Amino acid sequence: MTQESGETTPRLRSALDGIPTYKPGKRAAAGDGPTAYKLSSNENPYPPLPGVMEQAAAAAAAFNRYPDMACGELIAELAEHFGVPAEHIATGTGSVGVAQQLIQSTAGPGDEVIYAWRSFEAYPIITQISGAKSVQVPLTDGEDHNLDAMASAITDRTRLIFVCNPNNPTGNAIHREDLVRFLDRVPSDVLVVLDEAYREFIRDEAVPDGLELYRDRPNVCVLRTFSKAYGLAGLRIGFAVAHERVAAALRKTAVPFGVSQIAQDAAVASLRSETALLERVEALVGERTRVREGLLAQGWTVPDSQANFVWLRLGDRTVDFAAACEAAGVVVRPFAGEGVRVSIGETEANDIFLRVAEEFRKEL
Ligand SMILES: Cc1ncc(COP(=O)(O)O)c(C=O)c1O
Repeated sequence: MTQESGETTPRLRSALDGIPTYKPGKRAAAGDGPTAYKLSSNENPYPPLPGVMEQAAAAAAAFNRYPDMACGELIAELAEHFGVPAEHIATGTGSVGVAQQLIQSTAGPGDEVIYAWRSFEAYPIITQISGAKSVQVPLTDGEDHNLDAMASAITDRTRLIFVCNPNNPTGNAIHREDLVRFLDRVPSDVLVVLDEAYREFIRDEAVPDGLELYRDRPNVCVLRTFSKAYGLAGLRIGFAVAHERVAAALRKTAVPFGVSQIAQDAAVASLRSETALLERVEALVGERTRVREGLLAQGWTVPDSQANFVWLRLGDRTVDFAAACEAAGVVVRPFAGEGVRVSIGETEANDIFLRVAEEFRKEL
């Protein structure tokens, strides 16, 4: 391309034109004001567990060396933990990294990737980078995946379908019989990715574990992360469980040495500290119930979240609501014109949010 100065600049792929930028959850302000809590990124508010911290610190002492590229110890641990063959597991730099590898493995220019919308905001970005076309199927009025419409949107160009269960940012989850009926409609040469980033927070027994569904379906892949329940968001580690051909494709598309040894060792230690970690998840689920019930009592409509956040559809009041939260000391995640996603945080943070919601409700 030629600039006004007459200099030429590198030619970039036109697929990148107009790509939406990923908006990270805003950071909480530091300073003299009231304590600011970050409820904008669906993180785990608890600090790392002591045993996990020690393993990570020990690994940090050797960061002059490259990590184990095959993530061997972690994959062996995961295989045992979930009762799946080691060959079915592939790791990556967060589950978003693995999601990108899944697209790179299946779709390119001229292909189509289907997902519900609104859903996880990385889907349109990683799809567009690949050159494939996004086919966004609107959520139903009840904020659910419209699985019938998604199945009807499949064409002979469809290569991959994301099913976000529970859905980010609405929190509601798909029930077993609905998901099975959908999977039965998907042609066996189309990959279905069950994105279960929030799996550990599900308490509705009608929501299936994707690992049950992938076993006899070679076109189903389950995506999981250590970022949410396990509290390792800053270490960037996630994984997929998929049949051998898909898992092998993920190993081919992985960034070499992309998962640090610190992340690998912390993930192994986390799996071994599961009881303590899951107690924390239970406490967050308790807070989720308290927050949702508080909002319902105030008169809000709130989807039945099975994740570590709640969703308020505020339409054109979204930005005002987020500003009111921030002024009170909690940073939430607004999707302008649509709604606000609020992560479940420390009890005090949740209390502040509930107080803001109560005041705001009176104005509506
Ligand atoms: C549905 C969903 N999938 C995947 C991710 C990516 O998480 P990570 O890359 O930290 O594993 C997120 C994070 O917010 C998410 O909400």
